Amino acid sequence: MAKKVLVTGGAGYIGSHTCVSLLEAGYEAVVVDDLRNSDKEALNRVEELTGKKVDFYQFDVCDEAKLDKVFSEHKINSIIHFAGLKAVGESVEKPLEYYDNNINSTLALCRMMLKHKVKNLIFSSSATVYDQKNEVPLSEEGTLGCSNPYGWTKLMCEQILRDLTHAHKELSVVLLRYFNPIGAHESGIIGEDPTGIPNNLLPYITQTALGRREQLTVHGNDYDTPDGTGVRDYIHVVDLANGHVKALQYADSRTGSDAINLGTGKGYSVLDIVKAFEEVNGVKVPYVIGPRRAGDLATVYAAPQKAKEVLGWEAEKGIEDMCRDAWRWQKKNPQGYRNS
Ligand code: NAD
Ligand code: WQD
Repeated sequence: MAKKVLVTGGAGYIGSHTCVSLLEAGYEAVVVDDLRNSDKEALNRVEELTGKKVDFYQFDVCDEAKLDKVFSEHKINSIIHFAGLKAVGESVEKPLEYYDNNINSTLALCRMMLKHKVKNLIFSSSATVYDQKNEVPLSEEGTLGCSNPYGWTKLMCEQILRDLTHAHKELSVVLLRYFNPIGAHESGIIGEDPTGIPNNLLPYITQTALGRREQLTVHGNDYDTPDGTGVRDYIHVVDLANGHVKALQYADSRTGSDAINLGTGKGYSVLDIVKAFEEVNGVKVPYVIGPRRAGDLATVYAAPQKAKEVLGWEAEKGIEDMCRDAWRWQKKNPQGYRNS
């Protein structure tokens, strides 16, 4: 019988792509998402793409009574926990919302694991849990520490999950630390659909190329990097999604907790990305240089070796693929899922 995975936040950007990877790999997906930052249409399209059905429940993951019902109705083998708030700037303005949602949703799932004897959980962590003093490439052994409430929620959830596996030896948790996911499924049918003005680089670029934004502001060109603009480890969202399938297999084969980077190990500057996007898609991205954005670092990229060693996973797609696929999604869906 196919294994069932509970995917919290499965209608979101990374969650919807991961549902495709799971269904293609022969898993069944049960999604819980209250759609606070996503659209049900994303899941319709996952079904269209894969020809398979997703069981969908719309409610807040912190609602334990409703969660309990889902776990009673389905024999869940593993959980992938994407649901959470993720905007760094907003977390500084509204720290309690971030701590409340990100931590309580994780605690609720921990209790469900114990009650319903679910052994595996894959947690969406972030490169932001690494202390800023670490040198690049960032390895899993680096010291941990954060500079904003969003990051602390991720680090605190990691600690909660580590403590849980320590107390309950039968459990298995994989903490996946994502670098900068960008791009979209190559069909152009699902992709990233931020509400309001995008904070992140790629959606800002695609909306600028489309004419929805006048110009990109490059946040500083006086960093100690080859061209002065910030350098990041951009990873194609489909590679990232496939990493979750590998992480499920790994979780099944062991117990305890383990933190693993999902990145490419390569750093690209803001201007590298603008140039690649323009070249591969034959469009212009007008930009101006602005001041540095508060809290930004000069250079962030992963040491990706552990994922290769323990998961047998490595990123396969390059920045050209990422830029081409992001643009295909945006062109086909100029207003995101609100087109339909
Ligand atoms: P997203 O906002 O697109 O997806 C998150 C989903 O969770 C949304 O569909 C939202 O409606 C849902 N959600 C949030 N709180 C919920 C709750 N209490 N109950 C039910 N549903 C809830 O974000 P994403 O980019 O797909 O990120 C997924 C996860 O990966 C998040 O935990 C995020 O912190 C983490 N992450 C993202 C990035 C990134 O750059 N996108 C990087 C590192 C880590
Ligand atoms: C990338 C680069 C910007 C927008 C954030 C979170 C991190 C993780 C991923 C969740 C930087 C520059 C951006 C713009 C720009 N999320 N930029 N103009 O800041 O690396 O990471 O998302 O865990 O925690 O902090 O990503 O896409 O915002 O920025 O010049 O309009 O692009 O300064 O150098 P970031 P980003």
